[in-house]
This record gives sequence, C-alpha cells and structure tokens, in this order.
Amino acid sequence: MNDASPAGGPARLEVDIRSKSVSAANGAPVEILRDLSLSLREGRIGAILGPSGCGKTTLLKCIAGLDDGYDGRIGRPGLGRLGMVFQEPRLLPWRTVEQNITLPAPNVNAADIDALLNVLHLTEHRTHYPGELSLGLARRVALARAFAVEPGLLLLDEPFVSLDAPLAAELRRELAALVSRRPVTTLLVTHDASEAAELADVIFVFSPRPARVIAQIPVEPPRGKRTASEITAIAARIAAIS
Ligand SMILES: Nc1ncnc2c1ncn2[C@@H]1O[C@H](COP(=O)(O)OP(=O)(O)OP(=O)(O)O)[C@@H](O)[C@H]1O
Ligand SMILES: [Mg+2]
Repeated sequence: MNDASPAGGPARLEVDIRSKSVSAANGAPVEILRDLSLSLREGRIGAILGPSGCGKTTLLKCIAGLDDGYDGRIGRPGLGRLGMVFQEPRLLPWRTVEQNITLPAPNVNAADIDALLNVLHLTEHRTHYPGELSLGLARRVALARAFAVEPGLLLLDEPFVSLDAPLAAELRRELAALVSRRPVTTLLVTHDASEAAELADVIFVFSPRPARVIAQIPVEPPRGKRTASEITAIAARIAAIS
C-alpha cells in the first residue's frame, strides 16, 4: 500500500519507502528496498550509485508510477510530466527517430524538436529507423524522447552504459547542455562514480539489497565548474564508501 502525493505535488522529489518486495520464481517474497529515504530539491540532479542488483531500477519504477506495490510514500515534484530513459533504449522499431521522439509529446512545437535534435547531433538521422542506429545514437534518441515531453521530473537509468568512454563522455556533455537549457529535477542511476561526480549536485550511495541510502554526498563546486582533478577526487571519495 502507498500514499498519494498531496494535491499540487511537493516542490521536491521525496521518497520514503518502508519496504518493497517482489515474489521470486518459487513464490517466496524477496525484499528489494527497505527504509529507503531520499529527497531531491527542484531543479537538482541526484545520482544513485549502488551494487548491481541492489534495487536501483526497482526504485525508479516505483518513482515513475510503473510499480505501486510498495509500503511507503513517494512525492513527485509539481504536476509536471515525467521523462524516463530506461536501461535499454526501448525505441519503437517501426517508427522513425523523429516519430519516436514526438509520439509521447504530440503538442511539442517543431522548433523545439529541431533544437533537441541539434543538441544531440541527431538532425541527419531524423528519418532513420531504430534498426539503422548504433547504440550511441539509440541512446541519444531515448534522451531526446525524455526531454521532448518537457518533463518536471527526469529519471535516467544508466543512460550511457555499454558505450565506449569517449562516446559516454560526449553524451554526458550533451546531457549537461540539455539540463542547462532547461533545468529539470533529475535522478540518474549510474555505476560510474566519475559520471556521478561530473553530473550530480548530490550523490546517494545505496547498500546491497535490500537497498537503503548509506551515504548522501553533496557535490561542490557547482555543476559545469568542476575541474577534472576535482571530479577525480570526488569519485575517489565515493569509491571509498561503496
Ligand atoms: N519482478 C521481479 N521478480 C523477482 N525478482 C526481481 C523482480 N524485479 C527485480 N527483481 C530482483 O530484485 C533485485 C533488484 O533488481 P533491480 O533491477 O532493481 O536492480 P538494479 O540495482 O537496477 O541492478 P543493475 O545495477 O544490475 O541494473 C535483483 O536481485 C532482481 O533480480
Ligand atoms: Mg538496473
């Protein structure tokens, strides 16, 4: 059972899950989240770091409203729309790049789509189909689709995983450019401490399953003004915890 957000919604993302369990194949309950609380101010980027299988995707699904079988409370910011990038790009194979981006956002204007395609270097691919795209391009389309709805909350589940290092770095820069054009409260799941240190305002380190927050690290200096050595130092600090 879970409680709904108050009318109008809170200004920040507030998660307070007492327990979330699923049924294993043999029917036995498996607890995935326990006493997991986090709060993220409007317009901030929070990164989640935690061991594989600890419950990060499960948490994002609960926050997205795709799974309401938990005991606790989640308050989503404002009444804004939700943008979500899943661990896999999940594009519709029979739709073009442009159609994949605009389908969930039918009212978006053409100039905004052009700008989005431009920032993500997708302009020349707008009439291509997902089967014609590399993984890096497909991940760009998934990001564009999430931004096209002009989200009030953005949930990113390892959006740059399994890309080579230079391409992941390029996509991180593109994501940073997108959020500086249009700030949005963002929760980013990543395995990469450097990625968290580069992009986040605050980093939540999760325990092994059942996941809870074992450390919350505010990141200074401000996003976009961190030097490579500052990012390395923050990442080393996180690695010492996790
Ligand atoms: N519907 C389900 N039925 C049974 N077990 C599940 C179900 N969904 C998730 N799990 C289990 O719950 C745990 C958490 O899964 P989840 O996908 O949330 O982890 P994660 O932290 O996102 O992992 P990764 O870093 O590998 O993406 C895993 O052990 C997974 O096997
Ligand atoms: Mg996951």
